[in-house]
Amino acid sequence: MRSIALLNQKGGVGKTTTTANLGACLATLGKKVIAIDMDPQANLSVHLGIDVYNLKNSVYNLIVDECKPSDVILKTNIQGLDVIPSNIELSGAEIELVGVVGRETLLKENLGNALNKYDYVLVDCAPSLGLLTLNVLTLVREIFIPVQTEFFALRGVGKLLDTYEVVRKRLNNNLEISGIILCMYTSRTRLGNEVVEKVKEHFKDKTFKTIIRKNIKLSESPSHGKPVIHYAPGSHGSADYMALAKEVIQQEKTKKH
Ligand SMILES: Nc1ncnc2c1ncn2[C@@H]1O[C@H](COP(=O)(O)OP(=O)(O)O)[C@@H](O)[C@H]1O
Ligand SMILES: [Mg+2]
Repeated sequence: MRSIALLNQKGGVGKTTTTANLGACLATLGKKVIAIDMDPQANLSVHLGIDVYNLKNSVYNLIVDECKPSDVILKTNIQGLDVIPSNIELSGAEIELVGVVGRETLLKENLGNALNKYDYVLVDCAPSLGLLTLNVLTLVREIFIPVQTEFFALRGVGKLLDTYEVVRKRLNNNLEISGIILCMYTSRTRLGNEVVEKVKEHFKDKTFKTIIRKNIKLSESPSHGKPVIHYAPGSHGSADYMALAKEVIQQEKTKKH
């Protein structure tokens, strides 16, 4: 089982789009996948077709009320892809848990061994490095960082790397940054290419060869509650995320996780 956080404290870089679409593509390739929504905005849950206004339980209840994992895990319309949804309630968790001992490990503890039956656990993070994200980083072993190919792409990555080092030292020795994903690429701008070169220079072999192109179908599909391979199977977006999924699977052949 691989557990991967999609992390970048910058908003709008492609974390949620990548979690939903990579998850759907991995499931389509026959893997058992669970996506966990750790952003109170719940964009991932909506993207995967969940009615977030009528949830019985969400990841909030798992963390704060310690409800059973089986009460929060939902099936999606994609075979092989489950989800633990979130909703706006999660935005209160950070404050409500102040003073709770061990509050960084509640997600991991309350999930127990419920994730063992999956091949991939993908966790969509909120755009912050606060308590919710710490809970994610104690749960997972790997981090993928989606990076938007625009001018300020690497701004803030330093802070992210600092947080990663601290978490690795104090909370989770097994944590590893194992992939950088270049998102929303347009070949039309020289800037796009410069950023690609810079990221490759900085992260070397950790950068996935697959580059996710900017594609209108990717931005349309969330409002239809579908991943792009179902919404627009013939699109660039669909092809790119399928190629990424294959590259992710390929990582296992070259490296032990
Ligand atoms: N490759 C892409 N092409 C076009 N639009 C994209 C692409 N990736 C993401 N988007 C859109 O950009 C916005 C931000 O992406 P999102 O995945 O929600 O970022 P984050 O989760 O990091 O905040 C969303 O509206 C999404 O639909
Ligand atoms: Mg998001």
